[in-house]
Amino acid sequence: MSNPNTQLKTIVDFCRRKGFVYQGSEIYGGLANTWDYGPIGVLFKNNIKNIWRSHFITEQTNMVEIDAGILMNQKVWEASGHVGGFSDCLVDCKSCKSRFRADHLVEEACDIDVEGWTPEQITNTIIEKKISCPKCKATNFTEARYMNLMFETNRDKIGNDSLQKIYLRPETAQGIFVNFKNVVQSERIKIPFGIGQIGKAFRNEITPGNFNFRIVEFEQMEIEYFIAVPKDTEGWNEPFEVLLNSQKEFLTSKLGFNPNNIKLKEHNPDKLSHYSKRTVDIEYNYPFGFSELTGLAYRTDFDLSQHSKDFGTYNQSNINLEYLDPITNEKFIPHCIEPTVGVDRLILAALCEFYTEETLDNGEIRIVLKFPAKLAPYKIAVLPLMKKDGLSEKATEIFANLRKQGISCDYDEAGSIGKRYRRQDENGTPWCMCVDYQTMEDETVTLRNRDTMEQVRIGLGEVSGYLL
Ligand code: GAP
Repeated sequence: MSNPNTQLKTIVDFCRRKGFVYQGSEIYGGLANTWDYGPIGVLFKNNIKNIWRSHFITEQTNMVEIDAGILMNQKVWEASGHVGGFSDCLVDCKSCKSRFRADHLVEEACDIDVEGWTPEQITNTIIEKKISCPKCKATNFTEARYMNLMFETNRDKIGNDSLQKIYLRPETAQGIFVNFKNVVQSERIKIPFGIGQIGKAFRNEITPGNFNFRIVEFEQMEIEYFIAVPKDTEGWNEPFEVLLNSQKEFLTSKLGFNPNNIKLKEHNPDKLSHYSKRTVDIEYNYPFGFSELTGLAYRTDFDLSQHSKDFGTYNQSNINLEYLDPITNEKFIPHCIEPTVGVDRLILAALCEFYTEETLDNGEIRIVLKFPAKLAPYKIAVLPLMKKDGLSEKATEIFANLRKQGISCDYDEAGSIGKRYRRQDENGTPWCMCVDYQTMEDETVTLRNRDTMEQVRIGLGEVSGYLL
């Protein structure tokens, strides 16, 4: 973070005040751990998604993007392993009604590894070791039990009274795997290649929190990169390293994060997800400590095999997802490496990274979002020096022209010019244009730089070039 002392609460209050993020369903008292993005938050979010899209997809020669549905056939989630295994073990405190991950509770209280334990073993340990509730200190827990993290909904089956169970997707990845064959056929694309997707995912998290770090409805940006890995070889190692470097480059060179604020976390080979042979997270230095921002997993040929006729445990798709190598004529199930990142976590990291409080010579605290220009919601704000003498009208005309040129631009005529500069500093706007009396005479304006606060006077015709 620019300022390592910045508290999460400062960021949350700031986001709500500025309209980056509002509490979900706020006028009805809210819905816990749901957040809505406001106007400036949407501009910022779109910038983040566009930078990701150009870095991972449009700048590459072998990447394409799809947009699959949130609702998918229930069999997808059986084959992927989510119906059987996408669950966490939980306990509730009967006294204060708080909910906890049961494995984390025991691990933290007893400093032991409970990987693979049954709920009965965990319950017995909680009782034997007299583990107390971290919130209210009572020793009054429910029995530990597994809860699947997928949200369920139902759909009427036409012509019959029964309901069909449907899940809200808990990851975007499966939408890519089930479209693998479609993409190969329609794009005539050859391995190695990647399919990317940006979209919503839903998880009934047991311990959501830390603002939008762990939420129940979030967005993911995922790539499934398909490769040929000859049997018993480590042919996945090199593309894995290339994609890991690409993730680091995205965060540091493209988004401008300080490399000291990110670090790699290699997952313990004994604790990998059921589909993974190697996973490396990139953690970010959030106000609550280093925590997962992105993931990179070598998923082997697990997913395509699971969804394939004759290969998977379920054999339900009835489709063979083998790839036919056009040169060797060899058929095989491709392996896959998956770089993934959550949009909301990236937004939180970027806000923490660029939120800055500066003390000016007069003692005033200036809050500035020191975003790189491509991240900034508005690239420029147009501010008439006064509302009178035609300055407002002139500034409004310039504002409309800039927007017509596709430049994300704000307009503000409320309050003193100093206050308006401060508001734009808080928006992270790199340039403020002041329209004054001289503008009316010679079509020049002043441009104020957010970071140096220095001003230059230039001709109106030069402004868009200046911004680029
Ligand atoms: N397809 C693989 C997959 O979904 P994951 O580590 O469970 O892997 C990928 O999720 C990324 O999605 C994480 O690195 C994180 O950035 C984001 N993410 C996961 N759960 C989240 C949640 N509850 N709230 C916000 N972001 C989340």
